[in-house]
Amino acid sequence: MFPRIVINKEKYRHNVNTIQSLASQHGLSTMAVTKSFCASKPLIDVLKEERVDYIADSRIKNLNKFSTNIPKVLLRLVSLYDVDKAVNSVDISLNSEIKVIRALNEAAKKYKRQHGIILMLDIGDLREGVYYKQELYDIISEILSMDNIVLKGLGTNLTCYGGIIPREKTLKKLIDIVYAVEKDFSINIELVSGGNSSHLHLLNKDIHIDRINNLRIGEAMVMGRETAFGEQIEGLYDDVFTLEVDIIEYRKKPSIPDGDVGMDAFGKKPHFEDLGVINRAILAVGQQDVDFRELKPMDNNIRLMGSSSDHIIAAIMQYPEQYKVGDVLKFKLTYGSLLALMTSEYVEKYYVETI
Ligand SMILES: Cc1ncc(COP(=O)(O)O)c(C=O)c1O
Repeated sequence: MFPRIVINKEKYRHNVNTIQSLASQHGLSTMAVTKSFCASKPLIDVLKEERVDYIADSRIKNLNKFSTNIPKVLLRLVSLYDVDKAVNSVDISLNSEIKVIRALNEAAKKYKRQHGIILMLDIGDLREGVYYKQELYDIISEILSMDNIVLKGLGTNLTCYGGIIPREKTLKKLIDIVYAVEKDFSINIELVSGGNSSHLHLLNKDIHIDRINNLRIGEAMVMGRETAFGEQIEGLYDDVFTLEVDIIEYRKKPSIPDGDVGMDAFGKKPHFEDLGVINRAILAVGQQDVDFRELKPMDNNIRLMGSSSDHIIAAIMQYPEQYKVGDVLKFKLTYGSLLALMTSEYVEKYYVETI
């Protein structure tokens, strides 16, 4: 029963539709990214019902959980050891290594398939992607000679490793490359996949970057937040997912442990703030499920103090008589806590259908 993550399907549907229509007003298709909720069926059903353009995930295992005629996209660069699975599981994968693309071509040949790829370019964030033009041209030449690989597009990813904000001057690097490739190879690049939730601040300012025609959106759909500045997007829900946890012990105790302090449950020396004697609630969820620093109590009378593998310690700052063992505390989540809680098999997933 508890702990449980309460998942509001209708709020998710609202966020998905709002972002899809914002993107399409700017001529962009959308890949809905499902990794934060492990591609769970009820939310995949929402994406199917709303006919999103693409469903994308970084894990093949998630993409294999469902079948659909909406194109599936593998976001994390394909591992050399997963090429067979990739060609059999998804329509398009993101790639940057020619060695892997060659292996994908062989696998696709073996299974008599055509496999689409988006070739990733690094325009400054320094995560995945080809960085130098000569290498890019060598890779594209070779791809164009392959029988079972279709170069579906060029893409880039920002605001992940290097924290680079999508700005017109940065994205111009991508656009210039797209035009040059089209001219030099006499081809049309169908998909120019410009980025993730950090791109949305541009759309909100009505800035359209010519030639970019696709975005891959995860966090904004699940948290209602753009990720260039971490701002809430007006009109979107920030509580599609909330956590509910029950109190399993409730006592007044000192805030400083009594005795020689050694290590905590994780081998670290703990430090404590002296708040005097406090009302402490022990919650039945712990570090194995989530990092307590990533939980936001909905009741601002509650302060989270620390955790062990299976417990979080909360201080009830005022009105202690309002709480008792068995009461359920509610939390809003960050993207990090959402990922962890959805992945924990010890946390119940509870879907609600009304806003
Ligand atoms: C390549 C790639 N594109 C897009 C996304 C989605 O990013 P965001 O959740 O910020 O929209 C991710 C991460 O999930 C990713 O790795």
